[in-house]
Amino acid sequence: NKGKYEHYMQKEIHEQPESLTTTMRGRLIRSGSSKPKTVLLGGLKDHLKTIRRSRRILVIGCGTSYNAALAARPILEELSGVPVTMEIASDLVDRQGPIYREDTAVFVSQSGETADTLQALEYALENGAMCVGITNTVGSAIARNTHCGVHINAGCEIGVASTKAYTSQIVVMAMLALAIGGDTISNQARRDAIIDGLYDLPNKVREVLKLDQEMKDLAQLLVAEQSLLVFGRGYNYATSLEGALKVKEVALMHSEGILAGEMKHGPLALVDENLPIVVIATRDSCFSKQQSVIQQLNARKGRLVVMCSKGDAASVSLGGSCRVIEVPQVEDCLQPVVNIVPLQLLAYHLTVLRGFNVDQPRNLAKSVTTQ
Ligand code: UD1
Ligand code: BG6
Repeated sequence: NKGKYEHYMQKEIHEQPESLTTTMRGRLIRSGSSKPKTVLLGGLKDHLKTIRRSRRILVIGCGTSYNAALAARPILEELSGVPVTMEIASDLVDRQGPIYREDTAVFVSQSGETADTLQALEYALENGAMCVGITNTVGSAIARNTHCGVHINAGCEIGVASTKAYTSQIVVMAMLALAIGGDTISNQARRDAIIDGLYDLPNKVREVLKLDQEMKDLAQLLVAEQSLLVFGRGYNYATSLEGALKVKEVALMHSEGILAGEMKHGPLALVDENLPIVVIATRDSCFSKQQSVIQQLNARKGRLVVMCSKGDAASVSLGGSCRVIEVPQVEDCLQPVVNIVPLQLLAYHLTVLRGFNVDQPRNLAKSVTTQ
């Protein structure tokens, strides 16, 4: 049931304040001022010791689920202190990459049925790793065959292009980072800030959804383009990949997410006055580096759209020469949840304006259960 919406993708983008609330329900504990704030992931509580002791955490997925894992990687590394490596499921299987009994392998999949991810799971189980699932589908193959895990509880997702599952996956992995990290005096302030940030996140997403018309206007400007680049780094490298994936999947427009730190090592050659480029430059420890990326792109007359934190328009727009999208600022590791929303809206409006099928893009399936 699409309710007041024309497409499932549109409905699922707009229901993210509610889906995120459901994802966190009963899992954040803020009891009394004397007790530390904490998270409770029922499915993991008996396994946290083993996960904490692992030598490495591998996070494995495909498509949007891989991007969600990439968005959460920095906070998982920071709070767990365990090295975190990323694997695209098919590539891990192709390489038969080494996996050990001392590893924890985390499988991220909305459907829980993706063949590539399931093969990687089988491979990790054979090699004796501790296998953790993060899925939206109770009773799915991933939920059944992992040792333990977390249901993201985002509600059924129908649009082939994943939107609300992406943001819920990031939130679950941020909670996973908090759960693995445990309470130490030294990280208390950081943990409290993240937990407070999680509580407030649905409100911030509600706020960023108000950019709908602005993103429709931007889609109108870009409707006839051949290509769109998206530059991000740090916490928002994943946002650039996921934003580009949405545009590619549904609007059938070439789009590429680029790690801004790699700009000089190739992508800069593409920059001219015609190619549209989105630069994600919200406030975090990479902000000044992104400001210099904007300057360098501007020096080559790049057609820029800059996403920045509210109030930063003047410091990123270089005398008004580029278009600006202002988004609410949240705790750095949660910023990808806010920043993806305008790009989801952009992909949605581009698709409608270009006259393509929003909910069932050409050649794609919601869940790819064959090799
Ligand atoms: C569970 C109940 C929820 C109830 C809550 C009350 C289910 C599905 N969930 O939620 O309805 O409100 O307790 O305390 O009955 N698992 C895997 N692999 C995965 C995902 C999950 O093995 O990929 C396992 C978990 O380890 C756990 C079980 O499935 O044993 C349920 O996981 P989850 O729904 O996340 O647990 P709770 O949030 O505790
Ligand atoms: C398919 C979908 O390719 O599988 C993508 O079209 C999705 O949208 C990918 O991201 C992975 O799916 P899942 O269910 O494993 O998260």
